[in-house]
Amino acid sequence: MKHYDKRLFIQEVATRDGFQNEAQFIETVDKIAMVNALSQCGYAKIEVTSFTSPKAIPVLRDAELVMQGIQRNPAVEYTVLVPNVRGAERALACAIDEANLVMSVSESHNRSNLRMTREQSFAQLEEVFGVIGRGPVAINVSLSTVFGCPMEGDVSADEVLGWVERFAQLGARGVTLCDTTGMAFPSQVEALCATVRERFPELQLTLHFHNTRGMALANALAAIDAGVERFDSSLGGLGGCPYAPGASGNVCTEDLVHMLQLMGYTTGIDLDQVLAASARLPGLIGHEVPSQLLKAGRRLDLHPTPARVTNMLQQVPSALINV
Ligand code: COA
Ligand code: ZN
Repeated sequence: MKHYDKRLFIQEVATRDGFQNEAQFIETVDKIAMVNALSQCGYAKIEVTSFTSPKAIPVLRDAELVMQGIQRNPAVEYTVLVPNVRGAERALACAIDEANLVMSVSESHNRSNLRMTREQSFAQLEEVFGVIGRGPVAINVSLSTVFGCPMEGDVSADEVLGWVERFAQLGARGVTLCDTTGMAFPSQVEALCATVRERFPELQLTLHFHNTRGMALANALAAIDAGVERFDSSLGGLGGCPYAPGASGNVCTEDLVHMLQLMGYTTGIDLDQVLAASARLPGLIGHEVPSQLLKAGRRLDLHPTPARVTNMLQQVPSALINV
């Protein structure tokens, strides 16, 4: 028997995963206004920005200004992407709630994204754990290409579990399994999530899907079937990875929440406010977003019946209607 009355936790990543892929710089005030609007939507977490090298990702070069400029809602955790010790020091100076560390479980993807071997990445991140310590700032580790690498193909479950284990031993509060380029499919997701939950029940587990091949919503449902409660998603379906060929947007927040709410899940999200925020995105970034809900409206946003149909219906004997 499936239960659809569970509480799920939605984590917004548009201002990090989404904005990092935009060619044009988005004004700092606009980023701050967007995070402030998102802070009122009921998210469990917001990934505000990224403390990477400004040369690598110039569009997020204003990370400090954004973190210091936002009005925080105490009900929301504010997390940021941290690639190395320098990033950790910059982030800690901005009173973050959580640092989201990142490395790839695929050697080729790690080299192209972070310009290091996986072992070099692990050693750097180990240092980051040392800098952050076991104080009030939590550490999450996002593992990229868990469900497949665009250069190497499938990554074995043992490989993934090995990296989860190493970070759990370092003291990570949580781990995010990232389908960086939309290679995951539902049965694979269900199996891996079930194994990770069984092996690491104490870890806060998040799933991070991209909709590159149209499977993101199906994958989210498969993850829920395996007991997963937390999802990264992106307003408007923005997102991608600048270092992964063919990558496209994250699972779209409003599409995901709309589906989950229809099914009876509690998400804590105010969908009206999310849609209002999403409607502001094209003006901010200068192009349309993949969101389906923004185009089609909610399932029961009904349209007026055209007059010619109403007239026709009036002429048909009522017994013939609704057959
Ligand atoms: N914040 C600010 N500056 C940083 C930095 C950080 N976190 N990390 C490195 N830098 C600076 C260094 O000071 C150095 O500056 P200089 O050229 O003026 O001396 C320059 O960047 C190069 O530093 P180096 O240590 O050689 O790093 P790198 O060039 O190999 O970059 C990363 C390593 C990981 C920081 C960089 O590749 C990166 O940020 N990549 C983006 C990864 C990412 O966010 N991907 C998308 C998310 S999955
Ligand atoms: Zn992503």
